[in-house]
Amino acid sequence: MIESNLAALADAAKGRIAAATTPAELETIRVEFLGRKGGALASIDMKSVPADQKAAVGKMLNTAKQAIEALLDARTSDFASAAQAARLESEWLDLTVPPTGPRRGSLHPLTQIQNEIEDLFVSLGFTVLDGPEVESDEHNFDALNIPPDHPARDMQDTFWLDGGWLLRTHTSPVQVRGMRKLGPPLRMIAPGRVFRNEEVDASHEHTFYQLEGMMVDKNVSVANLLYFMKTLLSAIFKRDVTVRLRPGYFPFVEPGFELDIQCLICNGAGCPVCKQSGWVELLPCGLVHPNVLRRSNIDPEEWGGFAFGLGLTRLVMMRYAIDDIRQLQGGDLRFLRQF
Ligand code: DAH
Repeated sequence: MIESNLAALADAAKGRIAAATTPAELETIRVEFLGRKGGALASIDMKSVPADQKAAVGKMLNTAKQAIEALLDARTSDFASAAQAARLESEWLDLTVPPTGPRRGSLHPLTQIQNEIEDLFVSLGFTVLDGPEVESDEHNFDALNIPPDHPARDMQDTFWLDGGWLLRTHTSPVQVRGMRKLGPPLRMIAPGRVFRNEEVDASHEHTFYQLEGMMVDKNVSVANLLYFMKTLLSAIFKRDVTVRLRPGYFPFVEPGFELDIQCLICNGAGCPVCKQSGWVELLPCGLVHPNVLRRSNIDPEEWGGFAFGLGLTRLVMMRYAIDDIRQLQGGDLRFLRQF
């Protein structure tokens, strides 16, 4: 009788333990079956067991108790290892992934090229000058031999401001500032931002960058101009370059030139980049017009000079094969992170 009761109890305990889903549930089951007071095993009435069977029944009780304890312990440690496995899973680290570290910013490609050119010219004895972006008509036009009714004013679509001021259309007004401030002999460059009232598209911006250069000294000739331009371009493109001059018109130089370099892609043979001509137009330049020297109190009988205007924006586009000028000032980090 007691024997079959015990077997039934042990089965019940086994079933409950197997179905338990939390350690707390196991604890409830432990109390329910093994608790000293009111537990299922403890409430078996030993008094009703005949004396000669007490030892045998006591042994059976003990066996049942140990079996239930063993089941409880096994299930408890199942829960513990499942919990640990879950924790390890949630804390998993791939130790083979290389560290990323904080992301660093970098100089804008325009700044990089500007720094390089500044370093080069400083090493050749040039001073780096800065000029205002809001300019007077006098510095931007008049002093550069472009009087009010001159058709050359139409070559540069100007943003006019109140009171006759304007946003400088080129860096050439810094020539005027340099000559007036420093006097001859003079070697200067002036990188900076310029503005034109242009419709924006892939190759036109209303805001772009130029680098002006000027040298004023005794006996300055086209040969000097060519020497400096070749030195500049070889440094920029990191190889020897072949250049040629074509006549070009700018009111502040006489003679004025367009300087071309032999195409670096095809070495002059002709390709799509140079439109089969073998040459790529790079920068305008010339010998400083006597009127320009005179307007800045320099005697053209005594002094002469050359000047050039490098399109920094265009140069960056050439160097990095950027086909849309809007990228340069778009602020898109995916673009900027490439430099
Ligand atoms: N300032 C001119 C422009 O923006 C470029 C230029 C041409 C500058 C000839 C020069 C030069 O110094 O000699 O169109």
